[in-house]
Amino acid sequence: MPVVDAETLPKDERERSLAACRVLEEGKILMFRETPLEIPTADREFLLRQRQTEAGYHKNIAYRPGSDRVTGVARQQELDARELKRVLRDYSRAAAAFASTLLAPYAAKWRLDYASFRPQEEAGRKLSRHARNDLLHVDSFPTRPTKGDRIFRFFTNVNPATPRVWKTGETFPELAERFAVSSGLLGKVSRTGPFPVVTKLLRHSRPPYDEFMHRFHNFLKDNLAYQDNARSETVSFPPFATWMVFTDMVTHAVLSGQYALEQTFLIARDSLVTPEKAPVAVLERLAGKELTN
Ligand SMILES: [Fe+2]
Repeated sequence: MPVVDAETLPKDERERSLAACRVLEEGKILMFRETPLEIPTADREFLLRQRQTEAGYHKNIAYRPGSDRVTGVARQQELDARELKRVLRDYSRAAAAFASTLLAPYAAKWRLDYASFRPQEEAGRKLSRHARNDLLHVDSFPTRPTKGDRIFRFFTNVNPATPRVWKTGETFPELAERFAVSSGLLGKVSRTGPFPVVTKLLRHSRPPYDEFMHRFHNFLKDNLAYQDNARSETVSFPPFATWMVFTDMVTHAVLSGQYALEQTFLIARDSLVTPEKAPVAVLERLAGKELTN
């Protein structure tokens, strides 16, 4: 089963932390059937009311803890935008506080990335192929290279009535074994140096690892044979459940659901409990060289 119920973790705090890190690094989804975070009823109700203005929304509404800013809210009432920022800031802080105990080995070195609110119904969304959430993929951040660090996400379903439904399948090591070399992607990125990347506002470069992960994300979404035949299971996250997962490891696709909160963490490679299982380690073994320069 891809989902581990948090009820089954050891009770002793230290053992619990290590067990949680281990199951997550193995490629499991850790789920709390009832969220361990306190999200006030008034905040939940506020989030559910956001549907009225959905026409103006971008893919997600993002909160950036570093600069305390919200992006992706278009033409909102100023009052709503301010309240949304407060609700997301509180979620971000609560998720980080909870994770710093549960996942103590990571906390000293992680980087708190964006939090997000996903107010749109996922079933039937019209997004470009590479932006689609309903195709199996592993995550990569094209404009924010992780250099081998891990993408870890902490979700809460704030919908009081409807589950959030995912499809999840093979983990990164299995996929890498099948596709990394045969697709030609690993050979291409490990032969060349850092890849120049030009985006609208900044010019930077991606190390071979990040270049691979970015291309691999697109390769999986473009690969119709893979999408049609991939071994996968449907998992359902009930109302008010919290779940967490290394999304650079676990293939996932969102089939349906509306109103989820999420906080992303970038977990340092050298704080992992089983670093040999990280995607970067898997790829470096296959390539026979370092991929993060
Ligand atoms: Fe994803």
